Amino acid sequence: MTSPLEIIILAAGKGTRMYSDTPKVLHQVAGVPLLGHVIRLARQLEPSNIHVIYGHGGQKVPDTIAEPGLNWVEQAEQLGTGHAVSQAMPAVNPGSTVLVLYGDVPLTRPETLRNLVATAGDEVAVLTAILDDASGYGRIIRNARGDVLAIVEQKDLSEDQQKIREINSGYIVAPAEKMNDWLAALRNDNAAGEYYLTDIIAMAISNGVSVAGVVTEDNDEIMGINNKQQLAYLERVYQHRVADDLMSRGVTLRDRSRVDVRGTLTTGRDVEIDVNVVFEGDVRLGDRVQIGPNCVLKDVEIAEGTTVFASSVLDQAVIGKNCRIGPFARIRPEANIADDAHIGNFVEVKKSTIGKGSKVNHLAYIGDTRMGSGVNIGAGTITCNYDGANKHMTVIGDNAFIGSDTQLVAPVTVGDNATIGAGSTITADTPPDQLTLTRIKQKSIAGWKRPVKNKPAKD
Ligand code: UD1
Ligand code: CA
Repeated sequence: MTSPLEIIILAAGKGTRMYSDTPKVLHQVAGVPLLGHVIRLARQLEPSNIHVIYGHGGQKVPDTIAEPGLNWVEQAEQLGTGHAVSQAMPAVNPGSTVLVLYGDVPLTRPETLRNLVATAGDEVAVLTAILDDASGYGRIIRNARGDVLAIVEQKDLSEDQQKIREINSGYIVAPAEKMNDWLAALRNDNAAGEYYLTDIIAMAISNGVSVAGVVTEDNDEIMGINNKQQLAYLERVYQHRVADDLMSRGVTLRDRSRVDVRGTLTTGRDVEIDVNVVFEGDVRLGDRVQIGPNCVLKDVEIAEGTTVFASSVLDQAVIGKNCRIGPFARIRPEANIADDAHIGNFVEVKKSTIGKGSKVNHLAYIGDTRMGSGVNIGAGTITCNYDGANKHMTVIGDNAFIGSDTQLVAPVTVGDNATIGAGSTITADTPPDQLTLTRIKQKSIAGWKRPVKNKPAKD
């Protein structure tokens, strides 16, 4: 019989060494707050309850996380980890098993915690690690047989105990009912003057409850963040995990250390990703998609065979098959680009549909536009979609040809197969199949002189 699991996440600490106005647990790894990672981890264990202890940063922490199904408990004064856990206990079912996690330890794997909970059974387990440099951590005290006897905090270590390299991760599992008794008995007569959660270990032993010390295999899993160096380190650990996972699914990465996924990236077969590419939100890449160097893709779906060339930025767009995007393209929200289309350098597309095989290859702005298929847009073309107060639509028919440096002043419709002469300012609908131009006929003025600069007035 296994009792239900309740998880208590400690997230009230200050994070002095971050030197930041943002509460520590709201600093991000892979675009997600540290506490967000821990909550996601907690949910993967399917507990009956998740309690989050917050304090420093006040309401900002729950307001930023803003997820349903969490019991937020304020710890107004941070009197120690034992005190923090006791704040949540009134809301914990006494028949359950409690797992304590830290809001600043983002990269623990769910298997590690499942194993810890299973090992505890209806007794106690603590997750430990062997570190080369154990300074700063609570140490695991074992007897000659290897049984855990106690945890002693750094400040309270004897000279001999300072040599111990097995440390407390802070993650502890215990039966709620016993936890209540032990927490009630905690005292703060130690070097830090805090109520240490770790003191419950010796209490358990003296109550005849066994304590399993489970050693982690990967120390990055128990690493907490106290400063910006550690934040950057765990960011890369996370990104390497993602990169390795992508490669194990067949993705080619030019450099495992120069790709950043801040969200989810779904990939087909034979996808290639060059260096310094950032993926945000939900990005889906079809088979044979190639992403050039220095691109940013956020909430984008790209169908098979499309290439995105260097230094392009794509945000909330849907791109069809076999398209060519960039280099230096900017594809903005609600852009929908059909198969075989080309969007070239210094082209911005916003809230527009680009039909199959249409080409916008150079220096153009296409906004609030419905473009048919087979259209060719000349260099420097601009859809003037904004009159200073409202946005208006431009409609461009199939196989239209828009000459270079044309302004299409919306609302306006260009007919199918229409041709617009270069340098035109189109302010009214143009008929299909005809050439429309608005520029004056070319003329030359003989004897024309350039204006000369006025002489400065003498005083
Ligand atoms: C704690 C452990 C130590 C362990 C180390 C691992 C205790 C007494 N010590 O030490 O054995 O090796 O973690 O990193 O448990 N917190 C609160 N409220 C409080 C105090 C802390 O929410 O009143 C939170 C902090 O925000 C942090 C976590 O609990 O997320 C750990 O607290 P911290 O002060 O960093 O404990 P350590 O001294 O590092
Ligand atoms: Ca700490």
